Amino acid sequence: MSHRDFLAMVGNASEKIRELVENGNSFMVFCHIDADGLSSGSISSVMLLRMNARFITRSVKNIDEVIESIPNLQKDIVILLTDIGSGYIRILREKFADRKFVILDHHQPDGESEKHWVHVNPHLCGIDGAKEISSSGIAYLVAKSLSEENISLSPVAIVGALGDLQDKSSGKRELDGLNKLIVEDAVRSGLLKVSDDLLFYGRSYRPIHLALASTTSPYIPGISGSEAHAVSFLNSIQIRLKEDDRWRVFAELSEDEKKTIYNGLMKYLSSLNFPPSIVNELVGKVYELTREEEWTPLKDAREYASLLNACGKTENEWIGIAIAMGSRGEILLQAQKILEEYKRRLSEVLEYLIRRENWQELKYIIAIDGGTMIEERMVSSASSILSSSDLLPEDKPLIMLATKGDRVKASARASMKLVKRGLNLGIVMKKAAERVGGVGGGHNVAAGAEIPLAKKTMFLAEVDSIVGEVLAS
Ligand code: C5P
Repeated sequence: MSHRDFLAMVGNASEKIRELVENGNSFMVFCHIDADGLSSGSISSVMLLRMNARFITRSVKNIDEVIESIPNLQKDIVILLTDIGSGYIRILREKFADRKFVILDHHQPDGESEKHWVHVNPHLCGIDGAKEISSSGIAYLVAKSLSEENISLSPVAIVGALGDLQDKSSGKRELDGLNKLIVEDAVRSGLLKVSDDLLFYGRSYRPIHLALASTTSPYIPGISGSEAHAVSFLNSIQIRLKEDDRWRVFAELSEDEKKTIYNGLMKYLSSLNFPPSIVNELVGKVYELTREEEWTPLKDAREYASLLNACGKTENEWIGIAIAMGSRGEILLQAQKILEEYKRRLSEVLEYLIRRENWQELKYIIAIDGGTMIEERMVSSASSILSSSDLLPEDKPLIMLATKGDRVKASARASMKLVKRGLNLGIVMKKAAERVGGVGGGHNVAAGAEIPLAKKTMFLAEVDSIVGEVLAS
């Protein structure tokens, strides 16, 4: 099984989608609410729009929302699921075997789909969907196979992959595998520029101290989220913030100045007893969208992903989808405000978490129970940032919880080292959640679950014991 098999699967799927459109079918598109979900939903929507198909697009937080909606849809509507669905094939087959489904997803499938469904998933071809391609990439390849015009959507596919942190799997902060094919499409068509640099947010338009303070991936304790601390750090290492009356931006610093910042951050982190290796996460490929305005967050694909994520996690999904489909102007200004507010809140949450007040070290896992202190919408981003900033032990996965009403949202993250030892968090979360009457799933490195509040302690015990079984074997 190989890339070639996967591309053949993509080709077959696009032919079937073409047939469905030509036969006059309407589509109901459901996409997940994170950056990859909104990107893949937008790519699927533009693809259908360009085929003059009739469709409605809706974002969903979880599979339950999909399951509840389907009975209200007319029988002949095609249900296109993207960035959600593969992990819940069993339940979809049990309930809706006779419906028409198109599933474009990179989550680990929990079984075979119905023969008459279209199911595109890299895992079915032995390709790891956590690292090689995201749902946006899958939707993009299907769209491109339908029409070369859809190469214009390649930057959005890259945004989706970066939103799912697929640049972190190789240890180099660079997209690899099938994602690389998409990067090549975007570069070849003049839509993307790739360079090597330090990955500060707003590197081409934000004053240096603001770029440093707004970088949260990796999280630099004391500096991420704090303009004042970023200024005093930069002053302490003699980086000039202004040129005459104008603020300097990161992109104009000399190589020596960048090295001074890099080394200065290492020293700073050591002095606070944090691992200096955190700064390694700052080095990598910069993906710049050439057609976007210099001073917007859409210029840098990672920042674009943060913007979509912020929209998705604050119930402003439609703004994210509109942007990924091409809207700018007033909508973009609204999205920028949402991003700033989301980042401010996230920094507060991270500052609280870093104090380790509610960390619990169980035998095989680190559990952080945010209760109602951490909003449900922050858990996924906070757990991703903590786990990718070298702030956790490498030999225990992180499970972060937040309570909303009588439900608990859980986000789990594992190091590549644990994955190599056989840990698959998607399976762990699915099993543990099902044992307590919830739902769970995802990838080997990152997974999630929703469970009843009353079963929280039992759920953590289940996760600890399943992780223990895997790691002991
Ligand atoms: O919500 P969170 O970001 O922690 O989830 C990590 C991954 O697990 C995501 O890709 C998400 O789609 C997936 N997930 C899932 N089923 C759930 C919860 C999360 O497949 N019930």
